[in-house]
Amino acid sequence: MKWVQPDPKRENWYWPTEAMKARAWVSDPKIYEEAAADPVAFWAKRAEEIVWFQKWSETYVDEPYAYKWFVGGKLNLSYNSIDRHVEAGKGDKVALIWEPEPPDEPNRILTYKDLLVEVSRLANALKRLGIKKGDRVGIYLPMIPEAVIAMQACVRIGAVHTVVFSAFSAESLRDRLVDSGARLLITADGYYRRGKLIDLKPQADQALTGTKVEKVIVVRRTGHPVPMDPKRDLWYHELVSGEKDYCPAEPLDSEDLAFILYTSGTTGKPKGVMHTTGGYAVQVYTTAKWDFNLHEDDVHFCTADVGWITGHSYLNYGPLMNGVATVVYEGSPDYPDFGRMWQIIEKHKVTVYYTAPTAIRMHVKWGDEWPKKYDLSTLRVLGTVGEPINEEAWLWYFKLIGGERCPIIDTWWQTETGATCVQALPGIGPFIPTVAGRPFPGIRAKIVDAGGTPVNVGEGGYLVIEPPFPPALTRGLYGDPEKFKATYFGEFGPRLYFTKDGARMDEMGNIRITGRVDDVMNVAGHRLATAEVEDALSQHPLVSEVAVVSRPDDIKGEVPVAFVLLKAGAQPSEDLKKELIKTVDKYIGPTARPAEIYFVEDVPKTRSGKIMRRILKALVRGEPVGDITTLRNPECVEELKRLVGYKG
Ligand code: WTA
Repeated sequence: MKWVQPDPKRENWYWPTEAMKARAWVSDPKIYEEAAADPVAFWAKRAEEIVWFQKWSETYVDEPYAYKWFVGGKLNLSYNSIDRHVEAGKGDKVALIWEPEPPDEPNRILTYKDLLVEVSRLANALKRLGIKKGDRVGIYLPMIPEAVIAMQACVRIGAVHTVVFSAFSAESLRDRLVDSGARLLITADGYYRRGKLIDLKPQADQALTGTKVEKVIVVRRTGHPVPMDPKRDLWYHELVSGEKDYCPAEPLDSEDLAFILYTSGTTGKPKGVMHTTGGYAVQVYTTAKWDFNLHEDDVHFCTADVGWITGHSYLNYGPLMNGVATVVYEGSPDYPDFGRMWQIIEKHKVTVYYTAPTAIRMHVKWGDEWPKKYDLSTLRVLGTVGEPINEEAWLWYFKLIGGERCPIIDTWWQTETGATCVQALPGIGPFIPTVAGRPFPGIRAKIVDAGGTPVNVGEGGYLVIEPPFPPALTRGLYGDPEKFKATYFGEFGPRLYFTKDGARMDEMGNIRITGRVDDVMNVAGHRLATAEVEDALSQHPLVSEVAVVSRPDDIKGEVPVAFVLLKAGAQPSEDLKKELIKTVDKYIGPTARPAEIYFVEDVPKTRSGKIMRRILKALVRGEPVGDITTLRNPECVEELKRLVGYKG
């Protein structure tokens, strides 16, 4: 795509300040054309900025379903995150700032040297427990320094981490441990959330039956007594206390598995997205550096939990590979009051703040007085991720938080892409509300129709990515190569990765994401399949059938709405609704709770008995319902319209 110099005065288009341009790693838009001319050479150049134990022999292998990057190269993610800075004499620089939720509890500050010691001790302990390269290790930890330390310790020895969000239920944890075949689990006694002490260990215990987990390492965070099985469970602090302070980083092959992260697809069963070492390291390092314009004096605050890909790439690996300080906040943004995030920014002189639109909308609702109480003048770059951002939230973020001086970097990406793929760059712009930006240099994204043909400028279509595929793009789904092919390449073949997002592009190449085109929801920035919520609700003994669809929500972006058919004899009641909510908590976690549960006699079905979720979706969204004459039971639609208060 050729760079078109747009009219600089275009309404609602914002451009970098002179100060930003001067400080930016890239400020010349020519970079887009240069990279497009030879993306493989572009990425090879980027790869030279990280440390390789052995240089790669082939930069990119373009094989269907088996693309590879930096083949033959050897490196280590943890070495690039920590050792390289220590060896460069920057060991005393702050690497991690931990902000516990209780406001009077002291921070924990780790320098790069400290981090090297902590990570080495745990890595040595893992080795002593028999964990070897390729073994899977489950991590079920709250937002404490040990979450970062544990991930780093795994990749340091070539073990494959699979992090599970600590607000996920025991059942969710079990599914992921079983699927990944994890041999060891690292968890904690508990954590603090909204001022309450929450025990985590009992849930971890419940998750273990039926898994291959032999040992459980438990971090003492709260000190609250939790059950310990003397044959299986080890206290983290006791375990690492006798270990050596240094563990050499294992030279790993560029295509060695680094981690598995489970995410929601269209079925009830989450899939294990695999990321390998070299390509992931290069794209995460480069995008963290260019998107947020990271320099060594930056203090980077990513609010995502380590259980999500954003926490992996832009709380842990990206900032650390760039040698900056990363802030880890344990708790809730409204504790002890609505000003907590702004107070953290002031206290730690945060320069980069990266959060989700749902969080921004929440702050808008809480009121301007909260951010106004704090000094936010250290901020240089603001980021958003996870869902389309609405104009009101964008402008509020830009004006009130960024003082109109900080670019808003609206980053589009996915668990599967591992790193950001579409965004504006802080030294180049433009920054346009609701528009993510252009594909990152070296990434070929385009918008096509159902037949795979590019659509015209301004027309809606499907966002796809062409080879050479981005270095960090997933290499597959754990244990299911066929599903990998079908899910991402089923529609358009092996030469177009299908993102499952709808989008449109302007004449300059700026992309506006319009949202998922499959049955995946973004609930308060959390990715969730409608089928997962259906599966959870079906576990209740009184439920006979259930259909879940999403509907837009002012704060959370989208929320699940459930239509439940009860078994004969069961009576609908408020108590039963509460029980159903509990069932969702048990099988997934509170993030998946339906905003609304309707007890119904029937749901629209095709003649072959398939539930027409499309109609239910239209009903809850007040959109046109379309043709219902081919349904087996069209009469139920009228009844449902009354029930949901349809005004379409
Ligand atoms: C959505 C999160 C609009 C999109 C990193 C994608 C976005 C899904 C944006 C992936 C954005 C992410 N604008 N939509 N800037 N970023 N999405 O795997 O629908 O949790 O497919 O990864 O979030 O969610 P995931």
